[in-house]
Amino acid sequence: MNILLLGSGGREHAFAWKIKQSPLCGRLFIAPGNAGTAALGTNLPVNPNDFPAVAAAALQHQIDLVLVGPEEPLVLGIRDYFLANPELANIPLIGPSREAAQLEGSKGYAKVFMQEMGIPTAAYREFAPDTLQEGLSYLASHPLPVVLKADGLAAGKGVVICQNREEAQTELEAMLNGKFGEASRRVVVEAFLSGTEFSVFVLTDGKSYKILPVAKDYKRIGEGDTGLNTGGMGAVSPVPFANDAMMQKVETRIIQPTLEGIKRRGLDYKGVIFLGLIEVNGDPFVIEYNCRMGDPETEVVLPRMKSDLLELLAALPEGRLDEMTLEEDARAAATVVLVSGGYPGDYEKGKAISGLDQVDGSLVFHSGTRTGETGGLLTNGGRVLAITSYGKDLKEALEKSNANAGRIHFEGNYFRRDIGYAF
Ligand code: AMP
Ligand code: GLY
Repeated sequence: MNILLLGSGGREHAFAWKIKQSPLCGRLFIAPGNAGTAALGTNLPVNPNDFPAVAAAALQHQIDLVLVGPEEPLVLGIRDYFLANPELANIPLIGPSREAAQLEGSKGYAKVFMQEMGIPTAAYREFAPDTLQEGLSYLASHPLPVVLKADGLAAGKGVVICQNREEAQTELEAMLNGKFGEASRRVVVEAFLSGTEFSVFVLTDGKSYKILPVAKDYKRIGEGDTGLNTGGMGAVSPVPFANDAMMQKVETRIIQPTLEGIKRRGLDYKGVIFLGLIEVNGDPFVIEYNCRMGDPETEVVLPRMKSDLLELLAALPEGRLDEMTLEEDARAAATVVLVSGGYPGDYEKGKAISGLDQVDGSLVFHSGTRTGETGGLLTNGGRVLAITSYGKDLKEALEKSNANAGRIHFEGNYFRRDIGYAF
């Protein structure tokens, strides 16, 4: 099978690494990819949001399966685009339809869905410019802290946690006035949940499902979970508190009703449902749905999958997921992300990366990297490399990743040395 993988991050490098191990894998193309994916397949200079260009690449390279890494093309309707075009309709594309991707693309849509299905999540109200006054009075008596969320995609910046009411009211007004553009013309105001977050990934063909190895990512830039939110500074799998009893609750209270809701609404969902969960006093609640894999979670989830990912993905379009098994690796996996100085604020690109040849016993997944004109490896983003290791337990895996992360250098590089030590 010839595969076209869309995206350019560590998630996509991990996908490419895993897919390449499958005996079913023919030629592998990554659009646009990074310096890491270039070593596993052919990078194509195609923007995943440019559907005609993706379609042309799929036809030109006789693609048998398209795998969509990031959420944006899905929320923009790449699946619908393929299905609507007779030339493309029989090329299976892994990912939900535009409407189904609203579970990530619209916080309001996800909240209504969860409420309808009785899925545990924070209590909320939704406001628009014409209900600003109601929103302000709702906030006047809301317990603190309170969480404000732009309804639409806002590049990971659309969630604001407010510690006092005046700040929350000012923020609501700013958001409804377009602080995050169209994305915040509707705002979900919800109760703050205090607990520990974890990530559950569910592969589905819309009928049955398989749960991938459970992971936890660390979002804050600073050690001890301090400072600004990032895309993710590291991740571990398995997650000690996501034991059988907890996962039983996740399955019956969240996964099964989610699948039931997808069926009831007739949503076309063949792909990954990413449940962003929080454990509060032993019970799981949904913080958010995403319609794709997480990054950096993928860099530990796929290494812990023993089964052939491509075989599983190929079963989705045919609705054969129930015939498949998913086997986990018993080892633990941890990943530590090396980022550019200044990230998640402003940072410089184009710094020379050295020391990769010193890495011993870890997998290196590239995020923001590119090959320089003279052949060397250069930084090309905020998150630059994810260093993944196996261990008999998380401690061993983390020690390896930390040691190897310390052997890699570029000007201004930074990584958290405490990934996985706190749950
Ligand atoms: P989201 O973009 O929805 O994942 O939100 C970003 C981050 O904000 C989450 O990973 C949580 O850390 C935090 N967050 C979102 N909603 C809540 C909530 N209701 N209670 C506590 N923290 C939240
Ligand atoms: N690591 C969280 C995400 O991918 O959204």
